[in-house]
Amino acid sequence: MVLAHRSSSALKSIAVALIATVMVLTAGGQSATTKPTTSATTQSTEQNWWKNAVIYEVYPRSFQDSNGDGIGDLNGITAKLDYLKELGVDAIWLTPVYPSPQVDFGYDISDYRNIDPQYGTLADFDRLIAEANKRHIRVLMDMVMNHTSDKHAWFLQSRSSRNNPYRDWYVWHDGKGETATSKGEPPNHWQSLFGHSAWQWDEKTRQYYYHKFYIQQPDLNWNNPTVHKAFQDIVAFWLKRGVSGFRFDAITTLFEDPTLADEGVVRDQNGNVVINAYGDPQLDNSKTDNLPGVHQVMQQMRATVDQFSNDKFPGTRVLIGETYLHNVQELLTMYGPQDKPEFQLPMDTQVGFINKLDVSAFRSKLNDAETKLDSHVPLLVFDNHDNPRLDIRYGDGIHDDDIQRVISTMLFASRGAALFYYGDDIGMKTTPPKRKEDVKDPIGITGWPREKGRDGERTPMQWDASQNVGFTTGTPWLPVPPIARQNNVATEGSNPNSLFAWYQNLIRLKKTVPAFEHGSNVMLDTQNNKVLSWARQSQGAPQVFISVNFTAEPQTVNLAASNSLTVSNSASVEARKLKTLLKSPGGADPQSLSEIKLGPYGVYIGELR
Ligand code: NOJ
Repeated sequence: MVLAHRSSSALKSIAVALIATVMVLTAGGQSATTKPTTSATTQSTEQNWWKNAVIYEVYPRSFQDSNGDGIGDLNGITAKLDYLKELGVDAIWLTPVYPSPQVDFGYDISDYRNIDPQYGTLADFDRLIAEANKRHIRVLMDMVMNHTSDKHAWFLQSRSSRNNPYRDWYVWHDGKGETATSKGEPPNHWQSLFGHSAWQWDEKTRQYYYHKFYIQQPDLNWNNPTVHKAFQDIVAFWLKRGVSGFRFDAITTLFEDPTLADEGVVRDQNGNVVINAYGDPQLDNSKTDNLPGVHQVMQQMRATVDQFSNDKFPGTRVLIGETYLHNVQELLTMYGPQDKPEFQLPMDTQVGFINKLDVSAFRSKLNDAETKLDSHVPLLVFDNHDNPRLDIRYGDGIHDDDIQRVISTMLFASRGAALFYYGDDIGMKTTPPKRKEDVKDPIGITGWPREKGRDGERTPMQWDASQNVGFTTGTPWLPVPPIARQNNVATEGSNPNSLFAWYQNLIRLKKTVPAFEHGSNVMLDTQNNKVLSWARQSQGAPQVFISVNFTAEPQTVNLAASNSLTVSNSASVEARKLKTLLKSPGGADPQSLSEIKLGPYGVYIGELR
């Protein structure tokens, strides 16, 4: 699970645990055209929108504040929909906006059918949906089913007495060696991903409850069918309001081994026990993560959601999974069997959390996504609110913007849906707190200084160069980093060589170039360990070639010689011309596939004519 990875090795390896005719002007001034709209394509777009979707993660607390309290809110998001439209996103995923004591900034939910007053009201939510809908932007919510807040009415009931009807909604166990006067030891040595024992003693009813995350986030008991029914009703409540789907939080941790068997301890290459940032031995999570029960839960959930139709908000509802898994085989299981589907889009964290610029690792993982997922749609993701931003995990401090062009090209120019995090679009950098007393995320207090928490990747969206970057008229809940004076929407929006322009161009290509819409990914030049190249191939559509330089030195590649190139007449490939669709600022236009020159961390995308 992702946060476990986060704490197990310092900042580097963090993995927690439309259609209209459009002329695309690229940074280099090149162009591409799209096909016209028809009613048949409109209908198919509604059903298939998620297959090539561009999804933008909004962290509501940090996106835009509309009322000057220093905390972002729903009306702030609504006010920025035109920006998101301009960027080209199909959907926004909102991290939790439900009422919450905010111990885990919304992931500790105390009421699943309302909006936290900090973020607005249900009426504000309805307005957000309606305004987003007008702009063909879908709204996805976060669904946290592993745990609730300890202030949720269900848990208040559950802890009130052992005989309460809600007792069995949570995971309660006796302690080891408990007596009338002593609580004994926790039932076993399982740990919270947020540090220390996963068991919390509750004096009133003299038992321990289990919490995979914070003490204030008791785990629900998914062996209780009433819990399943409760969440199906909650999901229906939001679907009726026009939500287009959900991202299922911590979904692999719903079940625990009923025998309470101990988990294995992770050892390093020398056989020494790995100690995590909280000072505990690192466990392998084998008894508390990715247990098989999750599949039946998601099959039922998918069936519930698939039955749902709403004339006002047409189109497929999509289920996204927070699925940090060990390998592509495990990821495949999350799509479910053909007759009992589960997620349409379980996150493929295999690719995006490699956390180092290694050509062969990316080639192999991207190829797995293409060839080992039984033609399902991969959901690529490189960044989110739980991990340091791209600068820390992939940057070198010198070429960070160019490296981000490399990363974003893999994200948007590969087959599948693409999910990215607010602020990537302008090259926001990780800004962790410098002093323990400034930390807001509790894991940063428990884990200081090895684990500084997640504040660094949650700083306010940088809209302009003003003191509070246009985020708030009040005092922002997290400080604004100095880089915001350069990296902000106002400055980048008018610069054709900015990262914003790059993201916008990549997204437009993804949505308008036929081979990008559904073409398969074919890896090229597969022995090259400096440049990653691939083609997008779709029957009847011109092939598109992509090359990204993973090094700080210029590179030249010859794709005409690639063994993997599957064009009908390879002899003619050399002679055929490439039309540039997009290239890094200052990059060259190659004459043919045989000599593509790339600058340091340069990217080239061209269509074969
Ligand atoms: C994963 C979420 O992304 C993270 O922010 C949260 O702390 C945990 N799940 C617990 O809900």
